[in-house]
Amino acid sequence: MSTQTEMSSELSKLTPVLEGIGLVKTYGRVVALDGADFALYPGEVLAVIGDNGAGKSSMIKALSGAEVPDRGTVKLDGQEVTFTRPGDAKAAGIETVYQTLAVSPALDIATNMFLGREERKAGVLGSVFRMLDGSGMRRKAKEQMSSLGIGTLQNMGQSVETLSGGQRQAVSVARAAAFGHKVIILDEPTAALGVRESAQVLQLIKNLRDKGMPVILISHNMPQVFEVADRIHVQRLGKRGAVITPQTVTITDVVAIMTGALQVPVEEQTLGPVRVPAKTAGPIKTGLEEAAG
Ligand SMILES: Nc1ncnc2c1ncn2[C@@H]1O[C@H](COP(=O)(O)OP(=O)(O)O)[C@@H](O)[C@H]1O
Ligand SMILES: [Mg+2]
Repeated sequence: MSTQTEMSSELSKLTPVLEGIGLVKTYGRVVALDGADFALYPGEVLAVIGDNGAGKSSMIKALSGAEVPDRGTVKLDGQEVTFTRPGDAKAAGIETVYQTLAVSPALDIATNMFLGREERKAGVLGSVFRMLDGSGMRRKAKEQMSSLGIGTLQNMGQSVETLSGGQRQAVSVARAAAFGHKVIILDEPTAALGVRESAQVLQLIKNLRDKGMPVILISHNMPQVFEVADRIHVQRLGKRGAVITPQTVTITDVVAIMTGALQVPVEEQTLGPVRVPAKTAGPIKTGLEEAAG
C-alpha cells in the first residue's frame, strides 16, 4: 500500500455528515458490532465492503434507525443523535434503499415516488375532498428524473411492474434522493441487475455525488466499488478494518484486508476525506420536499 498524501487544509476542516463511534450490537451471544467506527464526509461516495457476517448490515441499521446499538454514539453533522426507528433517521434526512425494493408494482412511477407523502389538490378539492394532485406529482416526478439524468424513464404514469429491474432501482433511488436531504444509503443496488442496468445505476450514483449528495454504497462488486467510490470502508469482524481509496490500493489488497491476510497498521486505518464537496452541496431542490410535510 502506498502512503496517503497529505490532506489539504480545506479537507481536514470537514466534519463528517454521518458518524458512528464505538458502535456495539450483540444478538444473544453473537457480536455483530464490536466497537465499530464509521465516518461519511460531505459530498463523497463511501463504499462499505466486507465478508459475510462482518457487520455491514448491522452498522447501516444502527446508523439509519433500523436497530438501536447497545453502545456507542451516532452523530449527524457533528451533533449526537438517537434514532430509535427508521422514521427518526428519515426525518433527519437519511434515506435508505434496501435490497428488497419498497416499490408497489401495480402503481405508476409518480405514485411510487410520492407513496406515503402524497400531495393533494389545492383548495377545497384537496383539503375537504382529499383529492390527490396527480398531474402535479407526475410533473414533479418528471423534474426529479431529469435533474438526476434518468433519461430511461419518460412516462411517469407507467406502472412499475412494466419496468426493468434497473428502472425500478432508478425509481427507488430517485425517490430516496427526492426526500433524503442529508444522506442516501444504497444496499447492494446492482446485485440483481445486468451489466447495462448496473452501469446506469452507477451513473446515477455519480450524478447524486456531483450534486453534492453523500452516498453510502454497500456492495460486493469490487470493480463497481473501484469505479464509483471516493473512499472504501472495509468492515471486518464487527469493526472498521481500514478505510482506503481506489487510487492507493489494488483490488487484491482490499480482498486481503477483508479476509485478514493483510493487516493495516492502526495509524493507517482511518483515511480522512479525499474529496472537496461540490459547491452545490445541500438538498437537491426539486420541489418534492414540501410533500414530505
Ligand atoms: N437479527 C439478528 N439475529 C441474530 N444474529 C444476527 C442478526 N442480525 C445479524 N446477526 C449476526 O450478526 C453478524 C453480523 O451480521 P450482518 O451485520 O448482517 O453482517 P453483514 O451484513 O456484513 O453480512 C452475523 O454473525 C449475523 O449472523
Ligand atoms: Mg448484510
